[in-house]
Amino acid sequence: MNRLVVVSNRVPTPGGGAQAGGLAVALAGLMEQRGGVWFGWSGDISNDHSVKSHQDGNVQYATIDLSQSEHDRYYNEFSNSTLWPLLHSMPELMSFDRRNASVYRAVNERMASSLAPLLRPNDMLWIHDYHLMAMPAMLRARGVTAPIGFFLHIPFPSPDMLASVPEAGALIRDLVAADLIGFQTQNDVENFAEAAHRLAGATRLTGGWLHVDGRRVRLGAFPVEIEAREFAATAEHAWRAAPTERLRRSLQGQKLVLGVDRLDPTKGLIQRLSGYRRLLETRPDWRRRVTFLQIAAESRKDVSAYRVLREAVDREAGAINSEWSEPDWTPLRIVARAGARSTMAGYMREARVGLVTPLRDGMNLVAKEYIAAQDPQDPGVLILSRFAGAAKQLGSALIVNPHDADELADALDTALRMSLSERQERWLSCWRAIEGATPVVWGRTFLATLLRVGSGAPANTVSGPKVVPEVVRQRNVFPG
Ligand code: G6P
Repeated sequence: MNRLVVVSNRVPTPGGGAQAGGLAVALAGLMEQRGGVWFGWSGDISNDHSVKSHQDGNVQYATIDLSQSEHDRYYNEFSNSTLWPLLHSMPELMSFDRRNASVYRAVNERMASSLAPLLRPNDMLWIHDYHLMAMPAMLRARGVTAPIGFFLHIPFPSPDMLASVPEAGALIRDLVAADLIGFQTQNDVENFAEAAHRLAGATRLTGGWLHVDGRRVRLGAFPVEIEAREFAATAEHAWRAAPTERLRRSLQGQKLVLGVDRLDPTKGLIQRLSGYRRLLETRPDWRRRVTFLQIAAESRKDVSAYRVLREAVDREAGAINSEWSEPDWTPLRIVARAGARSTMAGYMREARVGLVTPLRDGMNLVAKEYIAAQDPQDPGVLILSRFAGAAKQLGSALIVNPHDADELADALDTALRMSLSERQERWLSCWRAIEGATPVVWGRTFLATLLRVGSGAPANTVSGPKVVPEVVRQRNVFPG
């Protein structure tokens, strides 16, 4: 079996505490089960250029530190203030500076030159996410011939949107040095194929192939999955454990509406609060009968848009509470820290409504977790943004436009009143969409495709390894 080398900016090294983000959630189980090397940033800032290596079970964690200015310009600026808003189609939040773009390239170069000497002849490489889009070409330039796969966990925008960043064409040309480029949805695939045509001169062939620079590159949609059955068992157990028990007692019979997100401008938190405010304004019946708990785990604190958002969310939350609270009732609770994933599972099962309303999201694993956490006999209702990749699979949720406060208020009212039979029907159809899949199967499907296309064999004549779902140990990671 080929050794798997995963490359990502964020590496959830053991003992590193709760990790926020869908990437860590998706990959942790696969790596534990399959083993290999996980390479990326250590999470530390220093001027030390050495590679630190640490073996845990069958996974070798190999990491490098970033200098302060690399961290500022590559991570805070180009990755999170240019690419993140750009790829989420939120240009109003985007800033661009050539110096940041060149440090981004330099960090990708340093990652490539630190990784290349660690590689062995039979390795296969899987690079993740927007921080490392230039790496495939940089590895090839260092003579790496191993199959290279790349997966983008976040959305890919329209080519017109992309053109607003001068660096975009160069990044696409670097990325197409990979053999397989995966996205969350077919819509992302279409956008990328068009952008590769316009900005990198690629020609689209049938069967998901691009022809570019005299070679073929395969594109595909590989929606990230969760360990649904295992998460369901965790939720059932956590629902009876102390944290959920305390939450339940504090509700005193009120219905719980729950949001669980990283505090991020893409998550639509301000719009979500406006929707809840509209519910309280227009449906006085729900006052005193409902509590909205929003977990908004603070994230990327050095990026100004995130600090501004934190202030705006605090202001809006304070305004809702001062306007609608009564001496013995508070309509909204907001918590700015990530909790253990198992605790979240218990809260999700307790919640009558799961509110997942990002303005744009590659997939959104919280939506899938909310479904998995429900009691099949008495399930809650998922309210889901049509702009989350998960909406393609969870069409029986209440699908909303997150910008429309009235639509959110209507959906909340509908969800809170929904009959048991309708709740069961909608839940079952969502559950069926996720119950069979696991992140391990997702990863194996991607890797089987990579092995086929990366070995030069025609994609439709060689069958990949048999995919067998396996239960993996759940890590303390927190999606969003
Ligand atoms: C999203 C991204 C991941 C990222 C995570 C957490 O899920 O797709 O690449 O790791 O957010 O963000 P952070 O900046 O803390 O790594």
